[in-house]
Amino acid sequence: MLIDGHGRTVNYLRISLTERCNFRCQYCMPEKPFSWVPKENLLTFEELFVFVKVAIDGGVNKIRLTGGEPLLRENLDGFIKMIHDYKPGIDLAITTNAYMLDSVAQRLKDAGLKRLNISLDSLKPDVKAKIAGKDVLAGVLRGIDKALEVGLGVKINMVPLKGINDGEILDIIDFCRERNIKVRFIEYMENEHAAGALVGMHGREILAKVKEGHYIKALGREGASPSFNYLLDGEYEFGLIDPHKHDFCESCNRIRLTAEGNLIPCLYFDEAMSIAESVKAGDIEGAADVLAQVLKDKPKENRWSEEEIEQREISKRAFYETGG
Ligand code: 5AD
Ligand code: SF4
Repeated sequence: MLIDGHGRTVNYLRISLTERCNFRCQYCMPEKPFSWVPKENLLTFEELFVFVKVAIDGGVNKIRLTGGEPLLRENLDGFIKMIHDYKPGIDLAITTNAYMLDSVAQRLKDAGLKRLNISLDSLKPDVKAKIAGKDVLAGVLRGIDKALEVGLGVKINMVPLKGINDGEILDIIDFCRERNIKVRFIEYMENEHAAGALVGMHGREILAKVKEGHYIKALGREGASPSFNYLLDGEYEFGLIDPHKHDFCESCNRIRLTAEGNLIPCLYFDEAMSIAESVKAGDIEGAADVLAQVLKDKPKENRWSEEEIEQREISKRAFYETGG
């Protein structure tokens, strides 16, 4: 079992496969970065797999592939199959913008993928284009349909932003409810890379909007999930991801690995330790040592909390490097 310095069990590894993305979401990567990580610095799937095995052997039983946009990595189904074959029971998921999903969904499913989280911030083509930086809604909806058709689990992520998509919270609920898929509303996390003028919605403001159309009951956090769940009209479950709330980090079970091999203990902070050298040399013990050190140093909590909002510095961490 992997236990961090605050006694929390870590069983969830998120791997960002590339920082590149075909979207320019306002809250993540509104402009192309000054430079991309050079291709030669990206760990190959074989190298990543060295660490994946260390993590699984240590106790990780849930892996999510993120980005940037993970579907941009060639032979992604091959990597999924490697992980799946090593431990078939593993909960293997991807977070994607779904734009390229239509043509690969079946292959990903066949390789062992179980679930997808898909960003859907608007159902209006022009609003979605404003948020994502290009006209993508039709492609995203095609991707969602295809994923459901091939039998992949789907959850929807929405980041409500004031004056942009805050009027669509109830529409997104209807869309997901009709398809029997869960939506999770995510509080906008301020960071240096996001577009300057963005104003996010606090969880309580999101819930107030939902209450305009529905009766809701709090269900609570589901294990170590970052999502606090609610039951809507007695029958439909949705979630709220509220990193600004004081107890959000108490049950954190996650660590993150970037495409270059930086192991990151917390999404908020810049601190990281590299496993690149170890995995390139096939040094399993070296990789395990770095993992142990990162677990020991994992911060107690992020600094998005309301108490800190006055004096804190804005997070420097780019979401496209670490995955959301
Ligand atoms: N705030 C909240 N969520 C974010 N994501 C990316 N950047 C942010 C941010 N600044 C999440 C989105 C997206 C996923 C890939 O990461 O939910 O769906
Ligand atoms: Fe790309 Fe996802 Fe970031 Fe949007 S949120 S720019 S889709 S990585």
